[in-house]
Formats: sequence, structure tokens, C-alpha cells
Amino acid sequence: MKIFLDTANLEQIKHGVKMGVVGGVTTNPSLSAKEGNADYEALSKQICAIVPGPVSVEVLVEGVEAMIQQGRQIAKWAPNVVVKVPSTAEGLEATKTLSKEGIKVNMTLCFSLNQALLDALAGAAYVSPFVGRLDDIGDDGMKLVEDIVKVFKNYNFSTEVIAASIRHPQHCIAAAKVGAQIATIPYAVLLQMTQHPLTTIGISRFLADWQKVAKK
Ligand code: G3P
Repeated sequence: MKIFLDTANLEQIKHGVKMGVVGGVTTNPSLSAKEGNADYEALSKQICAIVPGPVSVEVLVEGVEAMIQQGRQIAKWAPNVVVKVPSTAEGLEATKTLSKEGIKVNMTLCFSLNQALLDALAGAAYVSPFVGRLDDIGDDGMKLVEDIVKVFKNYNFSTEVIAASIRHPQHCIAAAKVGAQIATIPYAVLLQMTQHPLTTIGISRFLADWQKVAKK
């Protein structure tokens, strides 16, 4: 499973890339707004320049024609940019047109298997089921990811599944087990994934043991 960072924070992205584990980035208007940079294009371009893999940038408009127009603009910002479009009837129309033009689309805000199926049929390169937000309303977000992976395999769809709205390391483990191609995760979760108390204790013990000999 590939790990993407779900953030628009440049420092977090730089660190993740330096660690050698971040294969892409997903942003959304809320995450970009959090950075306090009102220049959406400039911020998105900076992110694309840091990340070696795909960077999802969401359209900021509604309506088929407006999404297509903005999607075409966003697609020109960088070679690795992916246009993010909502999983709606309008989003499907926009995705069909954009994908036929060779523009990669990540269909986002996916909360059902039917939405995911339609997203794939419309030509989405990626579909993003929101795990945490489904869990929040008492549903089982990871079951949706599992079902989408299974159905896409049944029909050999090339659309990749991005487990999104990830809230904790257990979500990453579960996403990997059910076969999601990608989990897009907050930076804090990436750091949590690197940590284990026995690793920390082990390092201290190894160094302390060596110091006992080195001091003699
Ligand atoms: O990738 C989607 C993600 O940004 C949504 O996460 O935590 O706002 O549900 P969250």
C-alpha cells in the first residue's frame, strides 16, 4: 500500500518526502485554507514541486462546465497534478470529460459502494472513500473500502482506491489488510506509525550497555 500525506502544509510534506515513504499528497479546500495562503495556485504548485508522486488538488466550483474549466486549468499547474472532483452526478460528467482528455481525476467525498462504482465507470483514476467521516456517524468506513476493493477487482477496474479521512494508525493497518492501493493520512498519523515504545526503550538500552564498556 502506498502512503500519501493528507495535508497542504509544506513542512510536513517536505519531512514525509525526506523519510522516503510519502508517494503522493492529497489536499482539499479545508486543508489549503488552514495554511492561510489565499493563493491556491501558488500553494498547489509548491506542493507539486516537492512531491515526486501525484498531488490531488480539488476544484473550488460547482456545476459541470465550471468544474471542467477549472479542472483543465489545475491540470496545467504541474505534470503530477490530479484534479479532485466530488462524487456527484455533476462530478461524474466532469470526470468523464476530463479523463477523456487525459487528465487524471480523484473522485472524492465517496461514502457508498454505488458512488465508487459510478466514479470508476466515469473514468476516475482514483476514488476516495472517507473512512473516518463514516465511522463518525456510526457506519463502518473500512468495510466500504473493503467492498470497493473487492468490486473493482471483480471487474478489473484500473481505478485506485485511496482510503481517506484516516484518523489513526489502526485505520492504516486495516486499509492495508483490505487491499486499498493507497491510504492518505494526516502527518500526525504518519509520525504515530513510526513509533513504538519498545523501539525507544531498545535504543536507550543498547546505547547504555555500550557506554558501560566504552567508559572502562
Ligand atoms: O482526504 C480527505 C480528508 O481530508 C478528510 O479528512 O479528517 O476531514 O474527515 P477528515
